[in-house]
Amino acid sequence: MVNIPEYYVGKTVLITGATGFMGKVLLEKLLRSCPGVKSVYVMVRSKAGQSPQARIADMINCKLFERLQDEQPGFAEKIVAVNSDLTQPELDLSKGDQSILVENINIVFHCAATIRFNEPLKDAMQLNVLATQKMVALAHRMKHLEIFIHISTAYANCDRELIEEIVYPPPVDYRRLIDTL
Ligand SMILES: NC(=O)c1ccc[n+]([C@@H]2O[C@H](COP(=O)([O-])OP(=O)(O)OC[C@H]3O[C@@H](n4cnc5c(N)ncnc54)[C@H](OP(=O)(O)O)[C@@H]3O)[C@@H](O)[C@H]2O)c1
Repeated sequence: MVNIPEYYVGKTVLITGATGFMGKVLLEKLLRSCPGVKSVYVMVRSKAGQSPQARIADMINCKLFERLQDEQPGFAEKIVAVNSDLTQPELDLSKGDQSILVENINIVFHCAATIRFNEPLKDAMQLNVLATQKMVALAHRMKHLEIFIHISTAYANCDRELIEEIVYPPPVDYRRLIDTL
């Protein structure tokens, strides 16, 4: 049986939503507890005039990454920021970045999402459903993919008194909902 840090030795990981609450702690924990990980690609959009690379450089300067900085001063070299807006066609990835991801990624953590409960349904659908579909399609092209993890939420089916660990059928066919929106 291989333990978790052993499993990640030499692996190349892709994370969406790495600038968010969940993605940030995942990135730090993965790099700190699995020092053998080869590299971590993060799909990040430009925001407020800042490039994805500048956003990640800023982020890893925050307190969360101090311990990692002490333990593994070269950790930043393992993080590769690629420009991507998940709501855009082809995830806004350049052809060059697409082929790098297709050739190299072993594990995908898809954490990007909107978590606003009052988000307009159309926008929530764009990011939480359609972007997830696009990520799955990209993952299907990856030549060395071992695992695809979609980080979702337990805040679902809250109209039920007892929520079991099963996938419930949706109240409407998702394709009809997309067409309607
Ligand atoms: N928070 C929790 O305690 C918790 C617990 C369990 C599960 N979850 C689940 O984990 C997932 C992430 O939650 P979170 O709390 O980390 O949310 P969050 O802090 O709001 O982070 C959302 C992430 O998605 C990215 N994103 C949004 N729109 C994007 C787009 N168009 N293109 C590229 N990236 C985009 C954001 O990037 P920008 O920085 O560019 O906006 C950010 O990195 C959700 O499914 C949530 O339900 C959360």
